Amino acid sequence: MRIAVFDSKQYDRTALNAANLQHQHELVFFDDRLNIKTVPLAEGFDVVCPFVNDKLDAPTIAKLAKLGVQLIALRCAGFNGVDLNAAAQHGIPVTRVPAYSPEAVGEYVFALLLTLIRKTHRAFNRVRDGNFSLDGLEGFNLHGRTFGVVGAGKIGLATARIARGFGLKVLAYDPYPPAVCEVGCEFVSLDELLAQSDIVSLHSPLFPTTHHMINETSLAKMKKGVVIINTSRGGLINTVDLIKSLKSGHVGGVGLDVYEHEEGVFFEDLSDSMLDDDVLALLTTFPNVLITSHQGFLTSEALDNIAASVLHSVAEFAQQQPLSNEVKAGA
Ligand code: NAI
Repeated sequence: MRIAVFDSKQYDRTALNAANLQHQHELVFFDDRLNIKTVPLAEGFDVVCPFVNDKLDAPTIAKLAKLGVQLIALRCAGFNGVDLNAAAQHGIPVTRVPAYSPEAVGEYVFALLLTLIRKTHRAFNRVRDGNFSLDGLEGFNLHGRTFGVVGAGKIGLATARIARGFGLKVLAYDPYPPAVCEVGCEFVSLDELLAQSDIVSLHSPLFPTTHHMINETSLAKMKKGVVIINTSRGGLINTVDLIKSLKSGHVGGVGLDVYEHEEGVFFEDLSDSMLDDDVLALLTTFPNVLITSHQGFLTSEALDNIAASVLHSVAEFAQQQPLSNEVKAGA
């Protein structure tokens, strides 16, 4: 099949080309994100393969249908960028990569957390500048503290498992909790989790119901000095409210691998231009805020799994088999 891979970087191309050796599809890579402006690029393709910040709204999907595209094969877990109702109306199935490596993201949570609370990012810069002083680098132990997981799905549970290894007490909130927590966490209400946790780690998908779930009200319910880690989707946090809580000292630290207006900024090299987002620019000035550019997934294992899963979905589609990784509206 002819597959148009949008928003592709060198690491995507390497992994997909390697996985394609056993499939022999025709892969064409585009730098552009797929949206209403770039959708003409999909002409002549059977399949489009978008990533997290591509915008497949109803008009874009209508155009894809007109161009004869038959399958949307996302190469990410989150599907908030696709209007699933519109895809269903046009009879275009949507597949995603449901679990390429929950551990890649779970381990990254702790990369962010330990950097923040032990200030190794600041120590690294100091030592390079010949400053070996320890003033201002005091941190705190994780052992014995309480770690709150919001969204106990695959990544949330992988993160909880690692947290238990650090000797953290793990609380979890999920609207659909399993009967037993297989990794030794305790399921509680969201309010209880927010009130008791020293660290709050977000792993819920972005839905209209979870948009800005971390806002002035929920921030006020958290402990003073709480550390918040978001490796899920930027839209879960109202960033303006977060900044107010950071300024007041109520929030003690923030690790963000995602940001609500990351589209067009994250994944790009903008080092020669001005940052045209005052909120993001302000956030980068806080010493207790660590921002990375949506790299939680970026391990060789995860990239290989993503490529294999996308091409497996395309193969299932080509062979008219049931699509194991299909996502449907309302499911
Ligand atoms: P999953 O589908 O296994 O788990 C999501 C969990 O969230 C489910 O248990 C669900 O019941 C729960 N949930 C639903 N509504 C909720 C609510 N209102 N409050 C709390 N929990 C709620 O998904 P998975 O694989 O664990 O991924 C989670 C998210 O992580 C994805 O949606 C994606 O946005 C993000 N992600 C980020 C990556 C990165 O590179 N930073 C990489 C991969 C995923």
